[in-house]
Amino acid sequence: MLKELVKHLFPRLVREGDLRTTYTFCLGGLAFTSLLVLTVTGLLLLFYYSPAPQTAHASIQFLEASVWGGAYLRSLHRLSSHALLVLLALHTLRVVLTGAFLHPKRMNWVVGCSLLFLAIFAAYTGYLLPMDQLAYWATQTGMELLLTAPFGGFVRALLVPDGVGQPLSLLRFYALHIVGVPLSVLLLSMLHFYRVRKNKGVLPYL
Ligand code: HEM
Repeated sequence: MLKELVKHLFPRLVREGDLRTTYTFCLGGLAFTSLLVLTVTGLLLLFYYSPAPQTAHASIQFLEASVWGGAYLRSLHRLSSHALLVLLALHTLRVVLTGAFLHPKRMNWVVGCSLLFLAIFAAYTGYLLPMDQLAYWATQTGMELLLTAPFGGFVRALLVPDGVGQPLSLLRFYALHIVGVPLSVLLLSMLHFYRVRKNKGVLPYL
């Protein structure tokens, strides 16, 4: 299985036509590039961020005011998260418009939908971390909306057991944002690429 996976990720031969960017606009590849920028900038932010309600906001202010390149690093992380969501929306649109969600690519469509959900969830969990007014009220609104969904109360209790912005909730958002969600996105992306290869690339056209 592992040998198969590696073989499909690095094929000996790829037909020139299958690499045509006028069909895919390279949107999946650009989304993956944003993901890599997000990972690198996120890892660097970890050196300064403090995941506790009393210190979280101060650690961000310190990063912006006193760390060389800190404000740039934070902006780059935020900007690449916006870019990822925009690119994923366009990538999904391309897949819909070209009918690439149909058989035999249905499984990759399902993997893609999970990736889309995880990317939105990553942005949502990251939004609380600076612990400013915007972060607090945006997360609070999301949690109120969740109550209207089936099993919303149960999921809310898991995410914010002691209330939005309280120690345990902030820690859970932090753990999900830096480990749980990124790891799942990375593993699912590997499966996504494997399926693209297994389906013999993205061509032909409809
Ligand atoms: C982290 C998120 C994602 C990454 C990095 C990614 C990456 C890629 C790449 C590199 C390709 C090859 C061709 C191309 O660039 O279009 C591809 C194909 C595909 N993607 Fe994604 N993708 C992501 C999310 C999604 C989402 C959200 C959907 C749909 C809901 C989706 C559905 C598909 C399908 C069905 C294909 C096969 C298209 C075809 O064979 O024509 N992907 N993806």
